Amino acid sequence: MVNMRSRKKEALEEQNQQRDPHKDLITSLLSIRDDDGSTMMSEDEITDNVIVLIIAGYDTTSVLLTFLVRLLANNKSIYSTIVQIAEQQQIESNKEFEEALTWEDLTKMKYTWRVATEMMRINPPVTLSFRRAKQDIEYGRFIIPKGWQVMLSVSMTHMDDSIFQNPTMFDPTRYEKHTPPTPFSYMAFGAGPRMCPGIELAKMETLVMMHRLVTRFSWSSPLKETLVSYEE
Ligand code: HEM
Repeated sequence: MVNMRSRKKEALEEQNQQRDPHKDLITSLLSIRDDDGSTMMSEDEITDNVIVLIIAGYDTTSVLLTFLVRLLANNKSIYSTIVQIAEQQQIESNKEFEEALTWEDLTKMKYTWRVATEMMRINPPVTLSFRRAKQDIEYGRFIIPKGWQVMLSVSMTHMDDSIFQNPTMFDPTRYEKHTPPTPFSYMAFGAGPRMCPGIELAKMETLVMMHRLVTRFSWSSPLKETLVSYEE
């Protein structure tokens, strides 16, 4: 990666190339400038950002999809509801087998997204997050001193029964209610200004993948016994 970044930097400098920040990530990061035109990011910061993006953008969605594939192998009722949605989709929009899905198609896959949302509540791909206290904060009986790093546990919040009733029960219908969840209660994508910027991409990837999987394949678990179980 260091080589790729250096080569890009040299190419941009040598050819005095017009920078198109939308060309690719490294060009975009190399192109960020302060108000006075000076470079804003050091090489280490650029490397760090690229690594964060690779991990944050890949490992998260793949963890979610892995859990969903496993769920569908074990839960025939959720599987058949998702298949029905996918088939209706196919019929309604008169799609050919290989035809691309549209944004509108994805907006209709509400049930599939509720299943994914519930999966991320029970098995959050990112289980914890960090913040630094900018001032002394009194929380309950505790003082969090300025400068301390605070770790929030997504899993513990999601298993809090004062927020989610029967928290160990896998229940995608809990998101059907029209009242939005209390802020900072559903934390799979974090919260606040540093919340995950990839939510919509993650949603799109998950829905497209689930649609493609259930319309082309059926599968079951080779294990007779599941070692991890949900209450249902
Ligand atoms: C199911 C999929 C995903 C989950 C569960 C997820 C979850 C999260 C969480 C919990 C955070 C930390 C937020 C916070 O501290 O408040 C985060 C940050 C981030 N995510 Fe995602 N993410 C997913 C997919 C993606 C995708 C597809 C991308 C981009 C391609 C992405 C890019 C990022 C980046 C760049 C950050 C760091 C943001 C910052 O520090 O300001 N994520 N994600």
